[in-house]
Amino acid sequence: MCGIFGYAGNADAARVLVHGLELLEYRGYDSAGIAVVCPENGNGHAAGSAGISTAIAAPATTGTISITRKAGGTDSVARLSAAINELDPDGTVGIAHTRWATHGKVVERNAHPHTGTSGNVAIVHNGIVENYLDLKAELVADGVDFISETDSEVIAHLVSREVDRGASLADAVRNSMRRVEGAAAIVATSALEPDRLVAARLGNAGGIVIGRSEEAHMLASDIIALLPHTNTVAYLESGQVVTITSGDCEITDLSGTPGAARFTTSNRSADQAAKGQFLHFMAKEIAEQAESVTAAMRGRVDLATGSIDLPELDLTEEQARAIDRAVFIGMGTSLHAGMHGSSSLEALARIPSYAENASEFRYRQPVLDENTLVVSVTQSGETADTLAAMELARDSGSLLATAVEAEGTQATRLAHTTLPVRCGQEIGVAATKTMVATMVTLSLLAARMASLRGNLSPEQESEIAHALGSLPSLVGDALSRDEPIRKIAQELTQYQDLLYLGRGAQFPVAMEGALKMKEIAYIHAEGYAAGEMKHGVNALISDLMPTIAFAPRDTMFDKMVSNVNEVKSRGGRVIAVTTDDDDVMKSIADDVLYVPRTHDLLQPILNIIPMQLLAYHTSVALGMDPDKPRNLAKTVTVE
Ligand code: AGP
Repeated sequence: MCGIFGYAGNADAARVLVHGLELLEYRGYDSAGIAVVCPENGNGHAAGSAGISTAIAAPATTGTISITRKAGGTDSVARLSAAINELDPDGTVGIAHTRWATHGKVVERNAHPHTGTSGNVAIVHNGIVENYLDLKAELVADGVDFISETDSEVIAHLVSREVDRGASLADAVRNSMRRVEGAAAIVATSALEPDRLVAARLGNAGGIVIGRSEEAHMLASDIIALLPHTNTVAYLESGQVVTITSGDCEITDLSGTPGAARFTTSNRSADQAAKGQFLHFMAKEIAEQAESVTAAMRGRVDLATGSIDLPELDLTEEQARAIDRAVFIGMGTSLHAGMHGSSSLEALARIPSYAENASEFRYRQPVLDENTLVVSVTQSGETADTLAAMELARDSGSLLATAVEAEGTQATRLAHTTLPVRCGQEIGVAATKTMVATMVTLSLLAARMASLRGNLSPEQESEIAHALGSLPSLVGDALSRDEPIRKIAQELTQYQDLLYLGRGAQFPVAMEGALKMKEIAYIHAEGYAAGEMKHGVNALISDLMPTIAFAPRDTMFDKMVSNVNEVKSRGGRVIAVTTDDDDVMKSIADDVLYVPRTHDLLQPILNIIPMQLLAYHTSVALGMDPDKPRNLAKTVTVE
């Protein structure tokens, strides 16, 4: 997915825009670019002519659009910033974009902003134009010459053609977006109306957040770009078009019917978007996990009474008992958190549960009904496959809950029940604190459902509540054990393949540990159910592929000891992750990483932490940037 930012105010737009891109860089960094409208004094074409269809007063002058773009590498925003310092374009209105390529190579001609033939209009786009080939053919037949290989350029030409025929920018955007199929979020600027920007949102494309300050209005893919200026925000809904100037904000639908922007005050702050003393956002977010766990439990665990509540889960006992099946859907790390939620719910509430990749779920015509609980897991609330799977679940009449971090997202609008994970914005592409906070939230869901259905005694509930109460300090303890992990990470840099093994509640941990290593250290790693070893995986064992084995002193411990011995007997190196109460692993494994012991329900949460640190230190030891892994972006708002 990409990062979009637009500014209409009184400040130097170029520098405001570049800073906005620096905050949105985690959304994609294949290329970056800005367009600033430089107003021309004198009697330019008074844009007050026919076609202005907004209540906002027409500007008295026109301008020219100055575009600067940089592409390639992961430092395109930094290179853009250097170029802007040189060029210093004048203007207080502009748009900006940082790209994660979906159509077209990572070269400058494919970087945004894109313009139309006349150069009067520039646009930035996030999403996919599914009918762009048809639209492109029509435009080419109309004499339009395309410069890029992107689908986005089609929108630039559609809007530009409308403006060149006399339409206002707002009408041009509305008319053009009615022809676009797919999910799209765009922001457009016009030299003929240099005081304003127009944005539109279709489908589940990454959102557009409107910011309002004393001297400006802004538009951004993510609230993080607005926070240095304001925390007064509104969310553009799908099918809406917004026109902003420094002092005005006007919303309509695609037909031009007026709507209203509902501004609220966000509780997020700009310092959440800063690395502080950390080298990387990922390091900061790993370190924040004791606070993340605390935040996820706030108002949901009462240590005095030993009780667990989930106020957002608005279910009666009767409704909870009527649920006869549960499905957890998500992608990547969120799927792994969903696997934890699924096994926890089945173990405690005795509801048949499973977890499934949202992109598989949405296309296989799953059997769902009003007695099915579907829980979508998505920290961003904007993952395209997960949103589509949610729509399917909702249309089937299932009860749809979503465990989400980001406020005001498409997922929260689709779900009947939102379970905020509350750990605060996560910038690093690799999910860490959001996963841990989500696992806590889904553990609470499992306990609450079990209690509502009469499957959890007060004593059992109190035991879990007190285990949750001590979890933040245990997380802090696990985080403090960084040194041995750093040493092992240094050794792992020499390997090309790794195997992660877990059983039962530790299987999702094995999957997640492998994903972390893949995505930020680029080492091939496989997470496997340890019971699978004899069914083919044993063939892989050698001294060229270390095995990370999760073996807490739970009911699976003896089975894991057998697995470790199997790997060792075939010459494989074993790094065991076990709990402080174990004294066996040190005599059979090559390396042992210890984590504190806690309730079985919560043990996977502690076991994840050394895996996050192992991947992070391996990535850094290999000289990589764990915050900006190649080919990846923080949120995948396209299929
Ligand atoms: C995990 O580290 C990755 N960032 C990725 O797998 C991520 O979990 C996945 O894209 C789902 O994102 P979501 O939680 O925002 O839906």
